[in-house]
Amino acid sequence: MRRPLIAGNWKLHCGPSEARKLALEIRNGLMGRRDAVDVLLCPPCVSLAAVGEIVQGSGIALGAQNVFWETSGAWTGEVAAPMLVDAGCGWVILGHSERRQHFGESNASVARRLRAALAAGLECIVCVGETLEERESGATERVVTTQVREGLDALDAGDWARVTLAYEPVWAIGTGRTATPEQAQEVHALLRDLVGQRAGAGVAQQTRIQYGGSVKPANAATLLGQADVDGALVGGASLDASAFLAIVEAAAVTPA
Ligand code: 13P
Repeated sequence: MRRPLIAGNWKLHCGPSEARKLALEIRNGLMGRRDAVDVLLCPPCVSLAAVGEIVQGSGIALGAQNVFWETSGAWTGEVAAPMLVDAGCGWVILGHSERRQHFGESNASVARRLRAALAAGLECIVCVGETLEERESGATERVVTTQVREGLDALDAGDWARVTLAYEPVWAIGTGRTATPEQAQEVHALLRDLVGQRAGAGVAQQTRIQYGGSVKPANAATLLGQADVDGALVGGASLDASAFLAIVEAAAVTPA
């Protein structure tokens, strides 16, 4: 059985004071639901310490939204994986489409970040997904297959226990347009198959695959009800405590 993972990607929202307030609302609202669902909050780096203080001892995990592959040195503006661990992070998101689109990240750079994050002991969410143009031209399978092959190359069997995949169709992110449950399931099944080819069927059955892209309380249950959808990576709705908590609740009560 794969426990669902509901993660809030706060993107470029919430400096420390706002972040503290939002994390507190989520922590207080979560009471009792953590037995069935894993919950992760990923604020901007400057707010990690503030959120870390609030979630400490609550079982809510703390994650960053990206990490650099070097551990130290003359790399102005970057953050290293051991620093995230030192700051209380257990998780990091890698390869988000906004990083790929606006900051030129490639599958190769995702692979380097992933290796560095795993070496520091972090658990990783690796995002994949196609653009609208790619979907409409029938390239979805090829695109996500390449992202997995190149972005997750050289993982050994033990590493997979700390890797979660997130299928985030770019056309569904922040657009209010969600993949249908069938579209999501189709790609999730393909991703599980790819993991199986690389790491074996046992690992594939254990690996969590989240869906991301306009997940809201209204659509969470049908998406999470798909056999290969093991949680959600939530952007906009994670900034509203009651919406985020409703998604956690949907994950707790929906059998996959
Ligand atoms: P939205 O939920 O705002 O569409 O964002 C999804 C996302 O990019 C999560 O990483």
